[in-house]
Amino acid sequence: MNETTLQLPGEVRITDEADALYDELAADLLDVAREAVEQRGQFHLALSGGGTPEPFYVRLVIDPTWRTLPWKQTHIWLVDERWVPREDARSNFRMIREALITQVPTPAEQVHPVPTTSADPADAYEAAMREVFGDLAEAPPLDWVLLGMGDDAHTASLFPQSAALDVTDRWIANNDGPNVVPPPRITMTYPLLNAARNLRVLVTGAKKHATLRRIEQHMKEHGPDPSVLPITGVSPARGNITWFLDGPAAMGAGG
Ligand code: 6PG
Repeated sequence: MNETTLQLPGEVRITDEADALYDELAADLLDVAREAVEQRGQFHLALSGGGTPEPFYVRLVIDPTWRTLPWKQTHIWLVDERWVPREDARSNFRMIREALITQVPTPAEQVHPVPTTSADPADAYEAAMREVFGDLAEAPPLDWVLLGMGDDAHTASLFPQSAALDVTDRWIANNDGPNVVPPPRITMTYPLLNAARNLRVLVTGAKKHATLRRIEQHMKEHGPDPSVLPITGVSPARGNITWFLDGPAAMGAGG
């Protein structure tokens, strides 16, 4: 840990070196997972794609401490997906399956990829969630949700000025439009993300520093503004959110 201050909406944890950061995040995951299994018999984990979390997933499966995660009681969900076949190089599920899922003993029926070959993947994915959680009026509380952040402050596949930002009556939405980085996406919506018990945002690398400063500034001056900075719309109703940053993300290239 170091003295850098960065005020973001939620708790901020800064760890200089990436591997040490992954260990902090993994320790948090293990605590939450054990408690969920103890209290409710199962653990609902939602994972993001993109490049940032891949080394974290690999660390989870190679380090003996993290291998003790209660994988058999875990359900694995996707925070978002690109609308491509599962074998496509851009598929988030493909990356997560190769890095993690093939290496852990989670039963196949507890692994929930987005059905991207369906005519309406968002509908189909929400139906899959309703089978597991029941046909609830409110979004279910996922136990631990890992988010990333793009340079444009998108998170999940909630891009600036895109249609999915305004969805209030669904847990999952398809998303496309001029600001959505192709291919079209399927994403958890704010109502589902904000119902989570524990949200974690993993941001690494100096390239993301300017965006973090922009969020800090914008929050100070205007408060949250999801249409411009979608990640500022993530605000858990009853849960908590923690940002896990490495030194370069927190301090920039000169830090
Ligand atoms: C995706 C993600 C997305 C990601 C950000 C950051 O499908 O791409 O789930 O929300 O977290 O785009 O991506 P990087 O980690 O590659 O910078």
